[in-house]
Amino acid sequence: MIQTVRGVRDIPPEESGRWLFLEACARRVFAQYGYRELRTPIFERVELFSRAVGETSDIVEKEMYVFEDRGGDALCLRPEGTASTVRSFIETSRQRSLPWRVCYMGPMFRYERPQKGRFRQFHQLGCELFGPEGPLADAEMMALVLRLLQEIGIQSAVTLEINSLGCPVCRGPYREKLTAHLESVHDRLCGNCQRRLTRNPLRVLDCKEEDPALLRDMPQMRDHLCAGCEAHFQGLVGHLERLRLPYRINPLMVRGLDYYHRTAFEAVAEGLGSQNAVAAGGRYDGLVAEMGGVATPAVGFAMGMERLLLLMDAQLGAPIRPDLYLVVAGDGPVEAYGLELAETMRSAGLTVEMHLTGGGMKSQMKHAGRSLAPLAVILGQQEAEARTVTLKRMETGEQEGLSAERLIGRVLTLLGRTDASSAE
Ligand code: HAM
Repeated sequence: MIQTVRGVRDIPPEESGRWLFLEACARRVFAQYGYRELRTPIFERVELFSRAVGETSDIVEKEMYVFEDRGGDALCLRPEGTASTVRSFIETSRQRSLPWRVCYMGPMFRYERPQKGRFRQFHQLGCELFGPEGPLADAEMMALVLRLLQEIGIQSAVTLEINSLGCPVCRGPYREKLTAHLESVHDRLCGNCQRRLTRNPLRVLDCKEEDPALLRDMPQMRDHLCAGCEAHFQGLVGHLERLRLPYRINPLMVRGLDYYHRTAFEAVAEGLGSQNAVAAGGRYDGLVAEMGGVATPAVGFAMGMERLLLLMDAQLGAPIRPDLYLVVAGDGPVEAYGLELAETMRSAGLTVEMHLTGGGMKSQMKHAGRSLAPLAVILGQQEAEARTVTLKRMETGEQEGLSAERLIGRVLTLLGRTDASSAE
């Protein structure tokens, strides 16, 4: 038997109602802020991510699914959505005016060690905004994130953490200062951080292995921001205060992708263990130019859908169920009658699950119960001959006989979709 690959999973039909609910909430909130969906390919050129996300990032160094296609091109499965969005923006930027707001949802792929809330194929919901430079855009994006978390009922379980990562003007000198400090405490650092020290020293700050006291004493970016970055950060804090959005400044948050400038943020949840970021994002003002486009400031975020679903109430997003289950107690002509009736009802907009595998009345009624349909339509020899049906309300067990012509109107009435006088 061939099994699923480690770190990936099916979403079974019983769960898909919750996914649809989450996606519908996201689409609604994204639209409220003016975002329209961009669908990018699942695979891209490897260099898109090595340039955008950074050669020294964990994603590019060890987590990408890289392959060569039959034409010899080096491709990979997308590990995130921002780089593809930037590529798309640059390829089509002549045709559009700014700001450009796009959202996306879909699978991403990273070869990480699987654990609770961490998969090798996972799903992100994200938004990217190109054009605005000021902190107003950052604040609006965070308001959007919090609104979506509220809509799905998990805002109280989540804390918004913010930080500034500076810009090319102030990050260089800070990086030198941090590296010097790290060298002075070299022997107290974990093996991983000792290796990172020269290539990606900022990542040491959010290493989970390090002694918290050691981290607290490190020089922090926040204290080394240039005037522009400081004003941007203060502007953001002002907007968050005005909107009364709850936030916490986390000076140790650095993010694992190299493209961030200035604002970085994460929404972290209690109760998810070490994989506690449900949303993450920030500003990447330098990326479009780095990737060959006309310099354009941008800000965005992505959320991990599996993690959101772990936190969401199990009751949210009712399972998908048909309006009615069609029980066919008979063969040949009864089945043909059932098939015809089912199609007529579907043409009237009803969802109908027809029993197709025979069996006795008792077992078919069991199937009807499992389908969660509120109504069952029962057909037998007599009904087929007289072109009538027996309609059963599953909750109360009440049954009534009626002609096939009156069925649709009656079903719509019982489902509360129309008033009794016009339907029947
Ligand atoms: P990221 O922090 O790498 O950022 O991922 C964003 C979110 O995706 C995480 O906070 C988490 O919820 C989810 N996630 C990441 N990896 C996994 C995994 N292996 N299994 C399950 N969930 C995962 C980005 O991807 C950036 N592109 C975000 C961004 C958009 N920044 C600006 N615009």
